[in-house]
Amino acid sequence: MIRYEETGHVFTLETAHAAYQMMADGYGYLQHLHFGGKLGGGSCDGLRPVWATAFSASPQVDVERQRYSLDLTPQEYPTAGGGDYRTPCLSLTFADGARNVELCYASHRILKEKPALEGLPSLHGACETLEITLRDRWADLEVVLLYSVFEEYDVIARSARIVNRTGAPVTLNGVLSACLDLQEDDFDFVHFHGRHAMERMVERTPVAHGEVSVGSVRGTSSHQHNPFVIVCDRSATEDSGRCWGLSFLYSGNFIAAASCDQSDACRVVMGIHPQGFSWRLEDGESFQAPEVALCYSGRGFGALSQSYHKLYRHCLCRGEWALKRRPVLINNWEATYFNFNEEKLFQIAKAASELGVEMLVVDDGWFGNRFDDRRALGDWVVNTEKVRGGMKALSDRLKEIHMRLGLWFEPEMVSEDSNLYRAHPDWCLSVPGRGRSRWRNQLVLDMSRKEVRDFIHDEMAAVLSSADFSYVKWDMNRHLTDVWSAALPADRQGEVHHRYVLGVYELLERMETEFPHILFEGCSGGGGRFDAGMLYYHPQIWCSDNTDAIERLEIQYGSSFGYPISAVGSHVSASPNHQTGRVTPFHTRGVVAMAGTFGYELDLSAITEEEKELVKKQVKQYIRLYDLINDGNYYRLTDPAACCLTAWEMAAPDGSRALLSIVYSHVRANLYPPILRLRGLTPDARYRLTGDDGKVYGEWTGAALMEAGFRPPRQHDAYPHGCADYAAFQIELTRVEG
Ligand code: GLA
Repeated sequence: MIRYEETGHVFTLETAHAAYQMMADGYGYLQHLHFGGKLGGGSCDGLRPVWATAFSASPQVDVERQRYSLDLTPQEYPTAGGGDYRTPCLSLTFADGARNVELCYASHRILKEKPALEGLPSLHGACETLEITLRDRWADLEVVLLYSVFEEYDVIARSARIVNRTGAPVTLNGVLSACLDLQEDDFDFVHFHGRHAMERMVERTPVAHGEVSVGSVRGTSSHQHNPFVIVCDRSATEDSGRCWGLSFLYSGNFIAAASCDQSDACRVVMGIHPQGFSWRLEDGESFQAPEVALCYSGRGFGALSQSYHKLYRHCLCRGEWALKRRPVLINNWEATYFNFNEEKLFQIAKAASELGVEMLVVDDGWFGNRFDDRRALGDWVVNTEKVRGGMKALSDRLKEIHMRLGLWFEPEMVSEDSNLYRAHPDWCLSVPGRGRSRWRNQLVLDMSRKEVRDFIHDEMAAVLSSADFSYVKWDMNRHLTDVWSAALPADRQGEVHHRYVLGVYELLERMETEFPHILFEGCSGGGGRFDAGMLYYHPQIWCSDNTDAIERLEIQYGSSFGYPISAVGSHVSASPNHQTGRVTPFHTRGVVAMAGTFGYELDLSAITEEEKELVKKQVKQYIRLYDLINDGNYYRLTDPAACCLTAWEMAAPDGSRALLSIVYSHVRANLYPPILRLRGLTPDARYRLTGDDGKVYGEWTGAALMEAGFRPPRQHDAYPHGCADYAAFQIELTRVEG
């Protein structure tokens, strides 16, 4: 709900459990008032900013009193140059060299829907939108702020559009998407850092008087930092405390920063990273900054995560596969790497199909002369030496054994040893006259150029039309360096990063519109582009190249803070694991992969009979529990980094059933496993707890399980599946009474 009170110019946006309030103050500046718990229909315009103190200048309009300072006023969209020395959302240079912008309220409208953002991902679905236009006091430059209210999810989607009507070009030096000026300190900043094969590790650090900031200037959102952060009370836990989430619907360079100012107020900002960014905005043009999904929870991290999970499933992911059950797949990458032919693929698929698996994904190596990773990226033509008869013959054969077919592409890359590179050496990002950085022997195509996108589109479309495909894995295996486009003049090179992302989005949109039945999965060396921007184009993303079940516990734990289970690509792979050499039971690998999209990535034709039986059981179990796993409320019961076991729970929203998963990761002698207090059950109902091996643990009331808790079985009590180390338990709760 959106309310505007004319006297006082107060805007209130209300969701199920939260209120967002701001006002155009006496001088016309748009002040932030509140984002937090509901206000009972009232206003908090009494929260006047502190008086200007020494060395905080007053703007021209306050010259008589000199009591008001933008440096101390909580703002909705702070700008540089006008006396606010904190982190700005907007910094620019006018044609005359002036750099100060002073935005004042000009007008507003309330729309009954959510406008799409041209060329960018954005949330959709039932909501109201407040559009506030701010205008510079001195020049005809406008900023249009959008606030869309997703009531059910406690989410406000924010974005900003800069419109130049000054009669001359303007250079944008930094355009962030959202600012949250919280009027307190004592907050923590929770962010998700990592590296290749170890993405989204949770780190919690106090917000202090210097800036805490994370971001990426790698051209993608990256493995190293994720464009999702949480600011929270220092005391916030999974179940209590105030938390503010900021999730960026964007897949390129980003910044998320928080700091306390001299008055101990905390400013949090998020947007495109200003480093290396500049954009020439001609007169009459506008620049659209990407969207930030802001979410508030007064009930800790758990409720915050659940809001994002539901929001992203229902209002971000699109297309046929957004909510539909995805096929259980077998991917040949870790089974064969580059060493396969169509017969080997068929044998793996046949073994998989006999065990209930539904789709074969042919990973890297099916095209051009791609016998290793030194060549052929860009030549998206089937290598018929490897796949004799081509993809049509393979898909026809697979149909006979009721298997669907999926294919890997890495559309944004080119190898120097490729026909594409030989024909168009200037199509990659590189600076003439300088050396270029390589990673994995490849260069990055200049996706800002339409002719490059058209070429890749035509190649991909030809392959995808040649056979019956159900799935595409869209990979991206290096970060951008030497960012320079042959298609842009020298003074516009600061635009290349963002134009690259827009180009990728355009190509994705085109491919997915043309092939609506295909399920697209994102990937970037695993989870290097695991962000809400990408989820708009594909409903699932390969979570990490690390398929070690024990390391995955931490990776999937971190991912769960901001992203739903249905987004998390997760497979059972071989043991010893290819990334870590760790040996884990097959059962444990299944339990961990079921906290994701679930599939296999090993040679299923070469596993033992006992393992085959487990695969059959796991596939059936996953399909049977699919709705509970994906539509259930997700609860993190332990922190894997701090506990001898990792436990999580999915509970049906109506409390009728739940699934409890427990994996031991750090076992010691005489260990007392921690009591797990379950969540999301009906207090008065009685639940039976049954293991996936049929063992009945007992029956207890929801209240007993939630208040007193459940002591997990010991690792020794595991099951007869191979070694006992890293034991896992999957326990189903069924309501038997009440
Ligand atoms: C990336 C992906 C892997 C696999 C390889 C193929 O690393 O993350 O899953 O597809 O590329 O080269």
